[in-house]
Amino acid sequence: MTETSTEGTGPEGGALSNLLHETRRFDPPAELAANANVKADVYQRAADDRLGFWADAAEQCLTWERKWDQVLDWSNAPFAKWFVGGKLNAAYNAVDRHVEAGHGDRVAYYWEGEPGDTRTITYADLQKMVSQAANALVELGVQTGDRVAIYMPMIPETVVAMLACARLGAPHTVVFGGFSATALRDRIQDCDARIVITVDGQYRRGNQAALKPAVDEAVADCPDVRNVLVVRRTGQDVAWTDKDLWWHEVVDRQPTTHTPEAFDAEHPLYVMYTSGTTGKPKGILHTTGGYLTHCAWTHWAVFDLKPEKDIFWTAADIGWVTGHSYIVYGPLINGATSVMYEGTPDTPHQGRWWEIIDKYKVSILYTAPTTIRMFMKWGAEVPARYDLSTLRVLGSVGEPINPEAYIWYRHNIGHDRTPVVDTWWQTETGGQMISPLPGVTAGKPGSAMTALPGVSADVVDDAGKPVANGQGGYLVLTEPWPGMLRTIWGDDQRYQDTYWSRFPGFYFAGDGAKKDEDGDLWLLGRVDDVMNVAGHRLSTTEIESALVSHPKVAESAVVGATDETTGQAVVAFVILRGSVPAEEAQGAELAAELRNHVAKEISPIAKPRQILMVADLPKTRSGKIMRRLLRDVAENRKMGDVTTLQDSSVMDLISAGLAAGK
Ligand code: WT7
Repeated sequence: MTETSTEGTGPEGGALSNLLHETRRFDPPAELAANANVKADVYQRAADDRLGFWADAAEQCLTWERKWDQVLDWSNAPFAKWFVGGKLNAAYNAVDRHVEAGHGDRVAYYWEGEPGDTRTITYADLQKMVSQAANALVELGVQTGDRVAIYMPMIPETVVAMLACARLGAPHTVVFGGFSATALRDRIQDCDARIVITVDGQYRRGNQAALKPAVDEAVADCPDVRNVLVVRRTGQDVAWTDKDLWWHEVVDRQPTTHTPEAFDAEHPLYVMYTSGTTGKPKGILHTTGGYLTHCAWTHWAVFDLKPEKDIFWTAADIGWVTGHSYIVYGPLINGATSVMYEGTPDTPHQGRWWEIIDKYKVSILYTAPTTIRMFMKWGAEVPARYDLSTLRVLGSVGEPINPEAYIWYRHNIGHDRTPVVDTWWQTETGGQMISPLPGVTAGKPGSAMTALPGVSADVVDDAGKPVANGQGGYLVLTEPWPGMLRTIWGDDQRYQDTYWSRFPGFYFAGDGAKKDEDGDLWLLGRVDDVMNVAGHRLSTTEIESALVSHPKVAESAVVGATDETTGQAVVAFVILRGSVPAEEAQGAELAAELRNHVAKEISPIAKPRQILMVADLPKTRSGKIMRRLLRDVAENRKMGDVTTLQDSSVMDLISAGLAAGK
């Protein structure tokens, strides 16, 4: 099966088709509309001259040491070059120039640790911290182009480490702190990182959770890693190797100034790994000029950001692209003041987020539907205890937001005053692509509405023809955009096959979508073997490989089943090896063992919600597992068409086994 195969998983409306009957509309608040950063004319401007529009954005958002000669070079499509010949430094743009412009005292981050410790970091502080870290990396031999892996929790040093890398032109690869040692090792090896930056541990639900042991385990298999730089966060005991260095011993003694060098607009900024439809994660490569333009412009326009007034909070982890674009690069390029929170929403109590909004007077909040649904479960009386009156724009990202969650968010958090911007994008797109504009768009609950100015999206049928209003199909992007991935690290062929071969000339996003009668877009979830669990992107194949790597498992099939809170949940069907005794095969202990095995191989977020031991799996005549049927079983739906099954009795057996197990 190729990456872009959509066999048997067409863009079904399913439960979401009823969304299209949603008729509620929310006009932008008059005052916001009157003072909005962008008005309705922006769409026409961008449609008339797309490249001119992005060139203006690049000029408005960034300080270039050398201006570009050409906005876009698409002559070697699908390999794009944006702002060809331009030169700039990402860290200078994010930090130094704001200090030079007299804003050194402006707060860049109000940081809130989970145990309640806080730090306030101004742009001037950040400039010193980043300069010291850059000097330290130079001392450790980091040169332009070298890769640095960052495995860190939500602390200011994570931002500092990223910017220090960017300052030196050393692409960073941030690996989410929830990933396992194996996942970290694979990523370090794939991009050949020479330095790893990490911490002793992090605070999680009131406990100290060690991170360093996973690094030790990973680095043991990475002989080319020269050093591991360790930030002290919790102070817990850590094992020490001869590669390890304390951050405070190496960084704190460095000079607080460092002269940034300007790099080519297409210089690699970072690699971010994400799951594809095969077992091997893809290293998504983002470069400098286009990416920064895209995330800064969208951050300014979609959130209507007023840098001198707003307190902005993206409540996501820096280890995902949302954090890269809307905690780090977008907000800092725009000179914004952000909140950054280390911990979980219910530590020490379920009102923690609302307490933070109240305390820092947050005016823009950006989070995921899965979190909103969790808050819904906890009850509206929790946020009602806090003053949320400073909020003026609410954002959503990561998965389709169901109208019920949208309305709850708007009403209980936004007190019916705030627009909700449902922003569709991906790791690959670098920044937001489809979203309302809060001062322009009359929002519909559940719809991401229209492509942003300068972005061209459409919905096409199997043959690649745009569908009419009222119809569904596959979401495609029909023109290149500045934040687009440039390739998959080390694998140009996979880049072409995955994104550009399903519909020639168009970027295939992997999502199903519908156009409603007004032509507005409704995202319907993935159409490939990728799941979206609580906003985390997981590959069915990757979890299957993890299960099969367990000595007791012969074969497995994984599906994403609809889940009330997490959107989708992982359900695994497993065929055990003949050597496993029957009484063990039925036991809960084995299921727990397999779930923990997946956590160890990938991450706790990939743990199956359910593991079902089966005797056989449904397959097509060509041997492809029919996940669609398994999903029906997992969701207790009536089974779909089984005519292409090699042996249709398999499904009866699986269903019967399930019924017996209940
Ligand atoms: C996939 C990308 C974008 C940063 C976080 C996730 C789904 C994302 C929406 C939305 C419907 C959405 C898509 C997409 N998705 N935002 N507003 N409405 N679906 O990044 O891990 O690269 O996942 O998330 O399925 O393809 P990611």
